[in-house]
Amino acid sequence: MSLPFDFDRITPARLPALLRAMPKAELHIHIEGSLEPELIFQLAQRNGIALSYPSVEALRAAYAFSDLQSFLDIYYAGASVLLTEQDFFDMAWDYFEKAAADHVVRAELFFDPQTHTERGVPMDVVLRGLHRACQQAERELGVSAALILCFLRHLSEDEALGTLAQALPHRDMFIGVGLDSSERGHPPEKFARVFARCRELGMHVVAHAGEEGPPGYIRSALDVLQVERVDHGVRSLEDAALVQRLAAERVPLTVCPLSNVKLCVYPSMDQHQLPALLAAGLVATVNSDDPAYFGGYINANFLATFAALPQLGAREAYTLARNSLEASFATTTQKAAWVAQLDACFAAA
Ligand code: ADE
Ligand code: ZN
Repeated sequence: MSLPFDFDRITPARLPALLRAMPKAELHIHIEGSLEPELIFQLAQRNGIALSYPSVEALRAAYAFSDLQSFLDIYYAGASVLLTEQDFFDMAWDYFEKAAADHVVRAELFFDPQTHTERGVPMDVVLRGLHRACQQAERELGVSAALILCFLRHLSEDEALGTLAQALPHRDMFIGVGLDSSERGHPPEKFARVFARCRELGMHVVAHAGEEGPPGYIRSALDVLQVERVDHGVRSLEDAALVQRLAAERVPLTVCPLSNVKLCVYPSMDQHQLPALLAAGLVATVNSDDPAYFGGYINANFLATFAALPQLGAREAYTLARNSLEASFATTTQKAAWVAQLDACFAAA
């Protein structure tokens, strides 16, 4: 990408304001991971559900994770307060208000229907609530929004096929499918048939790979599932040939810095490999993953990353924002309009 600006004139002191104000896309947010403890308690009360924590503070204090699984256990427990269409709407609306404040112009939301359908919540309740919030976000906040249905990889492929069948009557409410939950021991190829079916149906396809799992999982996400983006993908750096391929094919990686530190993928933010990913020519983006659990939304991720890693400056900020807009599944016309907004933002900086 040839970059149109003299980035050196933007001093480090002016970077935080620019990071906040630049238009950006969020491509890796689990909407159930945006459920703040306050809303968990409100919904539990509304729905008459008993929680195993006595207070918001006690719940928040439990957010100390040693790995992905230790987080997922508490994340699935938090999602158990969601029962009605209004609950799903309220959760997504809270996220959209924060995203708009962070200058997100496009958000592609992951949701985990199996977490809800296995508790007896109908698929259409989940989808209608989330879809209504997406439409209202577009209308009232100017945030273009879409849904990506994720299959839980710790469950079987037959269960994923059943979930797909339940979702198909609502095909117009989501744009694609993804793969999330416990990565180790559940390689992408376990879901070859269901992803092939989704591709035949014209859906966008993405998958988590190379968060905790080995680089081989990124390869099989590309080769077997034929994903258009890799979620996380940070462990690609352990395999030089894979890095070359990802760069040559311009496969976007949806990187989630605060998540990676909270889940101990990296010991601290100053050890995060985002600068190495960018230096290798990879199409990296910055995202929040599960912001209510990991200490912040998308702008908090940008600010924490740039504060800890002096290799990151205005050039990298522009590249990350532009990557996010171009890697989104919006139309070419929408993307061009957002890139023009981004250029105007940097021209005025
Ligand atoms: N579900 C929610 N957050 C996740 C993550 N970071 N990795 C895998 N599955 C998830
Ligand atoms: Zn994720």
